Amino acid sequence: MRKGAPIGGYLQGRAAVRWALRAMKTADEKFDDLRRRKAQSEAGGGSQRVQSQHNRGKMTARERIEVLLDEGSFQEIDALVEHRCTDFGMEKNVIPGDGVVCGHGTIDGKAVHCFAQDFTVYGGSLGEMHGLKICKILDMALKAGTPVIGLNDSGGARIQEGVASLGSYAEIFFRNVRASGVIPQISVIMGPCAGGAVYSPAITDFIIMVDQTAHMFITGPEVIKTVTNEEVSFEDLGGALTHGSKSGVTHFTAESDEDAIELTRELVGLLPSNNLSEVPRKSMGDSPDRLCEALDSIVPDDPNKPYDVNDVICEIMDSGAFLEVQSEFAKNIVVGFGRMDGITIGIVANQPNFLAGCLDIDASTKAARFVRFCDAFGIPIVTLVDVPGFLPGANQEWGGIIRHGAKLLYAYSEATVPKMTVIMRKAYGGAYDVMCSKHIRSDYNVAWPTAELAVMGADGAVQIIHRKRIQSAGNPEQERQRLVDEYTERFANPYQAASMGYIDDVIEPSDTRIRLIKALGMLIDKEETRPARKHGNIPL
Ligand code: HXC
Repeated sequence: MRKGAPIGGYLQGRAAVRWALRAMKTADEKFDDLRRRKAQSEAGGGSQRVQSQHNRGKMTARERIEVLLDEGSFQEIDALVEHRCTDFGMEKNVIPGDGVVCGHGTIDGKAVHCFAQDFTVYGGSLGEMHGLKICKILDMALKAGTPVIGLNDSGGARIQEGVASLGSYAEIFFRNVRASGVIPQISVIMGPCAGGAVYSPAITDFIIMVDQTAHMFITGPEVIKTVTNEEVSFEDLGGALTHGSKSGVTHFTAESDEDAIELTRELVGLLPSNNLSEVPRKSMGDSPDRLCEALDSIVPDDPNKPYDVNDVICEIMDSGAFLEVQSEFAKNIVVGFGRMDGITIGIVANQPNFLAGCLDIDASTKAARFVRFCDAFGIPIVTLVDVPGFLPGANQEWGGIIRHGAKLLYAYSEATVPKMTVIMRKAYGGAYDVMCSKHIRSDYNVAWPTAELAVMGADGAVQIIHRKRIQSAGNPEQERQRLVDEYTERFANPYQAASMGYIDDVIEPSDTRIRLIKALGMLIDKEETRPARKHGNIPL
């Protein structure tokens, strides 16, 4: 036996002391050991995989976090977490950090939590511990009341870890739901995102996708080919353009990693940290007393002629700055964020340039979700109305325009944030009620002199109520035109509604910004409650 070695579990005399000293590390050695472990964690999957990430025009997880957060603000946590899998020889390839970089930092001084999946480690795939690291970040963000940002770049469930990875996914989904409406959650998709993995981003408030490098789908092109015989490319199936314009899954499309991160920073700047904190105020140096003279001539004399509602929005926002959400999806309604007198507000506006500004299924769901986001986070809502009604058509009816349109009605009705409505031109039929009318508890409603509040447009109305009279007239066309003019004179204006108090005032368009800012100042501390209940039952 070697001298000094333990005998029967006990060390003997001086030899025992020497044995212990040999085994003990000096403090310097311990520090070196820590640095070595951290360096291994930072190296991720190694320089070759990092190079391949760069070759695809993608940044690494750490590079992304560096650009996302204020310089020097990132505090990493769980850099030393390791997977516990021993199947498929996994125990021989343990990379501290387990393929996801987590921590907190600041964006323009505002505290945020974030995680970034590292594609160089097992393709960013989500195993048990990788998933639990994300859960910890979500828990910390919820406790601290900060926004949470996920930078996603992952091959999905880590195949070697089987059901353990599915379990961690579900733990994430549950936390996303628990945090919904409490802290803003933003998902940036910067690589693959497939299978059930898409549901975490889907539950979060905003999805930003990088064009060409990001893909989201439940089942990929190969499985689709096998099951349905359809041939579709990755890009057509689940690229940023598809989700930005067809499915409405994504809210923003970015040109590159850098662009996506810049957008994220801008969005975070507009949002409050949580549902209890005040809505952000940031002066843009624009006067609250600025007249918007361009608005006096924006509505064409011909009621059937379109115009771009974005021009109205930019006129009334501070410095013309407007961050449009879902700009390529359901273009007949425009939603997004801007500032008025420095205060973040949400805008919902019918867009006469597309489908004449009609409400259809996609427009209703797009606006309803946006209204609910604003309401959850105390962001005042300005609604700009020019809507000829709900879009007619069998496809709309069969697609469920009744229940989808009801979502917007429901969202506006349950919202208790300051709500201000400007009727610019048409406010016809049910769409008048839906678009934040006084009756569903808008706080401040004004109309321009060009407004027309009626059950429907003059042509349609005359056709229905005077059909027999027109048919029996000596000159039917002349009689029809006379009746249209009569109806227009009586109803195609804001004054009947004003006389009933349905709108608070008729204003000159150039006064719109001034009047809205004054109303916002009056409403900013508004308090309104609804009956206590577990939750309502929005028509889904
Ligand atoms: C373990 C994975 C992995 C995964 C990729 N890798 N996906 N490891 N589990 N899910 C590893 C690869 O083995 C490879 O390791 C490295 O990541 C890079 O992968 P490549 O295939 O070389 O990269 P690329 O050609 O860019 O292709 C990326 C990819 C492809 C499109 C993501 O890897 C792929 O199709 N992966 C499988 C995707 C998938 O079906 N996932 C399950 C979805 S179902 P080396 O060592 O060679 O670098 C799901 C259910 C979730 O996620 C349910 C939640 C409820």
